[in-house]
Amino acid sequence: MKKCLSGIKPTGRLTLGNYIGAIRQFVQLQDEYEMYIFIANLHAITELQNSKDLKQNTKDLIALYLACGLDPEKVTLFLQSDVHEHAELGWVMTCNSYMGELSRMTQYKDKQQKQEKNITAGLFTYPALMAADILLYDADVVPVGVDQKQHVELCRNLAQRFNNAFGETFVVPEPVVPKVGAKIMALQDPTKKMSKSDGNPKSCIDLLDEPAVARKKIMSAVTDSVGVIQFDPENQPGIANLLTIESSLTGKSIEELVAEFDGKGYGDLKKAVGETVFNFLTDLQAKYKEIVASDLIQKTVTDGAQKASYVARKKVTKVKRKLGLELYR
Ligand code: TYM
Repeated sequence: MKKCLSGIKPTGRLTLGNYIGAIRQFVQLQDEYEMYIFIANLHAITELQNSKDLKQNTKDLIALYLACGLDPEKVTLFLQSDVHEHAELGWVMTCNSYMGELSRMTQYKDKQQKQEKNITAGLFTYPALMAADILLYDADVVPVGVDQKQHVELCRNLAQRFNNAFGETFVVPEPVVPKVGAKIMALQDPTKKMSKSDGNPKSCIDLLDEPAVARKKIMSAVTDSVGVIQFDPENQPGIANLLTIESSLTGKSIEELVAEFDGKGYGDLKKAVGETVFNFLTDLQAKYKEIVASDLIQKTVTDGAQKASYVARKKVTKVKRKLGLELYR
């Protein structure tokens, strides 16, 4: 069975973008692949976190993974910090990366261009840790939103570089980006990605937003003055974004939706999307509440850590042997 791995950082609350770009794909792929899904909490600490918030966000993320439909019987679901091999192979991958290639990663470049203060060394090297996350499990595919594709490309290069130097060790993974919904845009500025860290809460739908509040956010989404409902991300990014959200949550194609809304106004589209999001969040949050009240979270991550550690340990032993870090094996 082919293998699939992905993860999400537990910083801030999960957004509709995380669901549509990432989690929705995980759920679709769980029957086809041997699947590893984790909470990237070592990535979270590349920026200063309040420890209480980090714990809460981590629990919420596990509960939401489960509420969205990940089945712990099929998927190995775990905390990155529970499997110390991530940090260990992360160091190996840091040593296998060049300063130049890490400097070209957009997340770092953006922060540097904005002249943000106190960019940590961890933030600079984190794509190397991300490569280790993927390579530990021999992942063939890595489902991500478009913003993470560059990191998976780097991981491919690092895997090939290591294999060339030390012989076949790592599977070279493929990024999998959804055809629709790889980049959900901010509702108040549809030229920017919807993000947990957006300063304007009206731009972003949290998966734990009150459904009625989320509906209001959709109703006040920025559109344009063209007045025709068509899929034109370049000239009508707000409308394209609403069509993408509707298509992703209902399973209808963009073409079907454009035909359905032919001759109708923006208000009709917003009402429909608002209703879809309202219903989606209502169902999701009912499941989330049930999960939070049960002992499923603890059981899931305890079992997950055990399964993931077993696989990761074997890979790290192999890598250490190849590098000459194991004296007697
Ligand atoms: P993170 O936590 O920023 O995002 C998690 C996933 O959600 C996707 N995503 C979006 N997709 C569509 N539209 C959006 N507006 C949107 N916002 C976020 C992201 O593309 C991502 O797939 N470094 C990673 C976490 C990570 C990881 C890994 C992922 C660590 N190790 C190994 C895959 C494999 C991150 O910060 O994602």
